[in-house]
Amino acid sequence: MSSPLTFPEKFLWGSATAAYQIEGSPSADGAGPSIWQRFSHTPNNILNGDTGDIACDHYNRTDADVALMKQLSMQAYRFSIAWGRILPEGFGAVNKPGLDHYDRLVDRLLESNITPMATLYHWDLPQSLGDRGGWLNPDNAKWFGDYAELVFNRLDDRVKLWATLNEPWVVMDNGYMHGLHAPGHRSHHEAAIVSHNLLRASAEAVRRYRTVGKNKIGLVVNLEPKYPASQDPQDVAAAQRADAYMNRQYLDPVLLGKYPPEMQDIFGDAWPAYTPQELNDLREPLDFIGVNYYSRGVTRHAEGEWPLHAKTVRQPQSTYTETGWEVCPQAFTDVLNWVKDRYNNPPVYITENGSAFYDPPVAENDRIEDPLRQGYLKTHLRAIHQAIQEGCDIRGYFAWSLMDNLEWAYGFSKRFGLVHVNYENQKRTPKESAKLYKRIIESNGRCL
Ligand code: NOJ
Repeated sequence: MSSPLTFPEKFLWGSATAAYQIEGSPSADGAGPSIWQRFSHTPNNILNGDTGDIACDHYNRTDADVALMKQLSMQAYRFSIAWGRILPEGFGAVNKPGLDHYDRLVDRLLESNITPMATLYHWDLPQSLGDRGGWLNPDNAKWFGDYAELVFNRLDDRVKLWATLNEPWVVMDNGYMHGLHAPGHRSHHEAAIVSHNLLRASAEAVRRYRTVGKNKIGLVVNLEPKYPASQDPQDVAAAQRADAYMNRQYLDPVLLGKYPPEMQDIFGDAWPAYTPQELNDLREPLDFIGVNYYSRGVTRHAEGEWPLHAKTVRQPQSTYTETGWEVCPQAFTDVLNWVKDRYNNPPVYITENGSAFYDPPVAENDRIEDPLRQGYLKTHLRAIHQAIQEGCDIRGYFAWSLMDNLEWAYGFSKRFGLVHVNYENQKRTPKESAKLYKRIIESNGRCL
């Protein structure tokens, strides 16, 4: 038997969610609609016509859900704030009940000794800003800054960890390049503009934070390390393009002051030549990087596969999750080491990691056996432990997700939760993986 694993003493163990995926009641208490509300109510965008109208009804069940977190021994909780609940028009008049809602959530968490991490933007842009061009509109960065400042002023006395944007790559690629997410556009010209405006917005929020905030703020990116499918130079180049597009596009400008050179190749004429001043404006020092990790991409050259001319190759010996992602914990250790080496070992929180697998129906005794999710959790935590041993500065882990929820274009068909949600009656039932995670938390990883 190998000796027990030791995680840093103050390592933070938590779970994560996002507003549109769990809250429901999108118009309650004066909230303004978001682009996801419009998108989900437009036919054929979401599997089975699902919407976030009810979702997990978390908006009305905040207290019970916080009690559940406590019961599961969670030490931290990452949630997102719906911009349109605070500013129904995106800017201008403040909707006080919206702010009160998150204020209360934070108080409940603190009463239960759960550290809050608040994400300011997890994809639910106010529709009224969508009508003004959304992330294509350069003014969005300033509006985001104004919104962020408002929220900092209200919550920073109690929220010690902030994230500006969640996964800007997904906003750009799914929302504006491939039309899979709101607002459902397909244009590489637009995607290029959106990438830059997202980074301008994140930097603006960080600047505001330095004037009114006292704690820590970071940016959350999804990282998926790319490995060439063969040593063929074409495959090697394809993997490099994919890596630039997905992994370096957002971190390089913020941390190194420049976009990856491959961007020009990928976007062609659509990629503007940014001035040193424009690049400098993105380089706002962060207190931590939030890393969302799910999978790796073994990549080969594929002519015509737009815009990268690259494709992920299925690995016959690997397990795949229900979302079609290869399970590869070693790549997690690799990518954390890559962050350490490339960006000078910044503090990192794992802001998301988890898996959607088929869950059997809830048994009579309320047991839900989810061995594959348990395996995923254990092997990925061991991968993080390995990275810590190799010198990576990893401060905490947020499992995705606390409970089953609306998996965007997949609707409710994919279950990522540690806790099962019955969408008919909103009953929450912790899966076996939740019980395992509780033991892991209580032993600070020693039982792994
Ligand atoms: C990334 C996103 O931040 C989250 O909203 C999503 O549900 C999970 N990954 C799983 O796809």
